[in-house]
Amino acid sequence: MAYVIGEACVDVKDRQCVEECPVDCIYEGDRKLYINPTECIDCGMCKAVCPTAAITSDIRTPESLLAYIADNARFFAEPLPGRTEPVGTPGGAEDFGATGVDTEFVAALPRRDGD
Ligand code: F3S
Ligand code: F3S
Repeated sequence: MAYVIGEACVDVKDRQCVEECPVDCIYEGDRKLYINPTECIDCGMCKAVCPTAAITSDIRTPESLLAYIADNARFFAEPLPGRTEPVGTPGGAEDFGATGVDTEFVAALPRRDGD
């Protein structure tokens, strides 16, 4: 089980969740953030602070957002566009830094501002 960041983070990236996570397992893409499902300890602290309610437990994710469970995992397990190695489990998002890139699934989503 892990927590998952869904559609409501896209083009918002409030980042309060990053401040709360005790194990620093929330990694930054270009348009949204992603929770490392291997590093997440299921504490729920991130969910409580997100102003857009973008975070859910994977076992409570609504059906309309189920694609985000696989997509969060894909961000770490498969090489991101333009990269040859997957992110994997670096053990800390702050040291790893922002990736500046999203999964193909998120990159293809319509812009929230309509552009
Ligand atoms: Fe996104 Fe909410 Fe975190 S908008 S960056 S999941 S606080
Ligand atoms: Fe981190 Fe706990 Fe959320 S480990 S990703 S704050 S559920």
